[in-house]
Amino acid sequence: MKKKSIPAAITIFGAKGDLTHRKLIPALYNLFADQQLSDNFNIYCVDFLPAEQETFRNELLASVDEFSRSGKADRAKWQLFSANIFYQQGDFTKKDTFSSLKANLDAFDKVNKTRSIRLFYFAVAPRFIETIGEALYRQKCCNKESLDRLVVEKPFGTDLDSARKLNRFLSKRFAEKQIYRIDHYLGKEIVQNIMAFRFANYVFEPLWNSKYIDHVQISLAEEVGVGKRGGYYDSAGALRDMVQNHLLQLLCVVGMECPPAYKAEAIRDAKTRLIKQVRIYSPGQEVFKNIVRGQYTEGVADGQSVPAYRQEEQVAKQSTTETFVVGKFFIDNKRWNGVPFFLGTGKSLPRQSSVIMIQFKDSPHRIFRDDIVPNRLIISIQPELEIRLLFENKVPGSEMKLKPVDMDFAYKEAYSQSLPEAYEALLEDVLDGDATLFMRADQVEAAWKVVMPILETWKKDPSRQLHFYKAGTWGPKAAYALLKPYATKWFELVQKEMPLSELPA
Ligand code: BG6
Repeated sequence: MKKKSIPAAITIFGAKGDLTHRKLIPALYNLFADQQLSDNFNIYCVDFLPAEQETFRNELLASVDEFSRSGKADRAKWQLFSANIFYQQGDFTKKDTFSSLKANLDAFDKVNKTRSIRLFYFAVAPRFIETIGEALYRQKCCNKESLDRLVVEKPFGTDLDSARKLNRFLSKRFAEKQIYRIDHYLGKEIVQNIMAFRFANYVFEPLWNSKYIDHVQISLAEEVGVGKRGGYYDSAGALRDMVQNHLLQLLCVVGMECPPAYKAEAIRDAKTRLIKQVRIYSPGQEVFKNIVRGQYTEGVADGQSVPAYRQEEQVAKQSTTETFVVGKFFIDNKRWNGVPFFLGTGKSLPRQSSVIMIQFKDSPHRIFRDDIVPNRLIISIQPELEIRLLFENKVPGSEMKLKPVDMDFAYKEAYSQSLPEAYEALLEDVLDGDATLFMRADQVEAAWKVVMPILETWKKDPSRQLHFYKAGTWGPKAAYALLKPYATKWFELVQKEMPLSELPA
């Protein structure tokens, strides 16, 4: 049977939440509009609060209009798509929520005269995952290894122990191949392209090591503050929210060895091997020396005044939760011996900018008076999708005068079609049963091991070296001190309006 002709029953737990509205339904709608969804599908949206079918569908339509990458939904297509969305009010802790869901799933199979692919998306707080998983298992909703899949959102657990416990629970009830631990950064187009860039262009391989690379910066700067997510964020913080997953996953993609094949397990093995080689700091002094945290205070961003983090909704008035982290990490293997990887992220910064910067070493022998800027490779994930290489160039004229210039590749110039959103790519992969871009149990645990000493140190000393920065600025000074002597600039390194060649060294 052709894959698109296998019926798909998609269940979303947490259907009234932000993720469903901003990401999941717009992604599913775009897959449908691009004919990438099964010809025959139903979407069951489960949540605690009551909602009328039509009102709920209209709320979803408003979200698609607002958040979809393709703009407002085409009304005729939306009609067809939304006719397959069904809201089901249900308490995740009650058995009858799952018996009604099972009845719906079975009825869908009956009409189609075949067993559908069942995808269960956990867009819920981590505390509900076991409860829902157990109920799905007991009600036999998710009992076919080859067809039934669970998608679990990050953060996967809240620390190493809870992640292990969750993994143990899931592996008791389901096969590993049924579990898709999602990290949407891995679905971003340019992040997927890093593998192609590194492993299909052999010219870079000889340079991709400590002999030629001075340091690497991976920074995910956000303009937005915590907004309405204070309840979740205040107990998570930037380390759990961004570093344990997105940043360490990007580190894996940049630092991993070439896998033996482009196959899910081979790639997951290579990433896991790498993350297990990240140096683990001892709690206390070593953490304070290598990791800087910050929290935003009142400020102005984009002409609007922004409240202090402690004044945000559902945030404790004396909260010491970090909204900004930068850290210096090392990978203890032959390739990366001594090369620092600076990972950083923050909220309420001047602009959104997700960038990987590979700083090459300076030439060991200088013959020109002007050759001062060593080569730099920039992979810009968003908002621009670009790969740029900075190199020295002779300025035309009679003198031997040098000036750095950029060689760049920009998606928007090279491709005219709009690119799929990360969630589209990832949902499609789950429906296809392809786990290449998802995290495996051992990889997630290894990532928790890296951040645990940091969490423990901050828990013990909640206010020590918590640096405050004004919303709308590039974070605390201590973040810049950490970069020395490797660099002087952080996130603003890649400003859209500033060509690389004009940046200071
Ligand atoms: C999420 C975090 O995983 O990633 C959010 O929970 C963050 O706090 C978001 O804003 C950033 O994702 P993107 O794709 O907008 O860079």
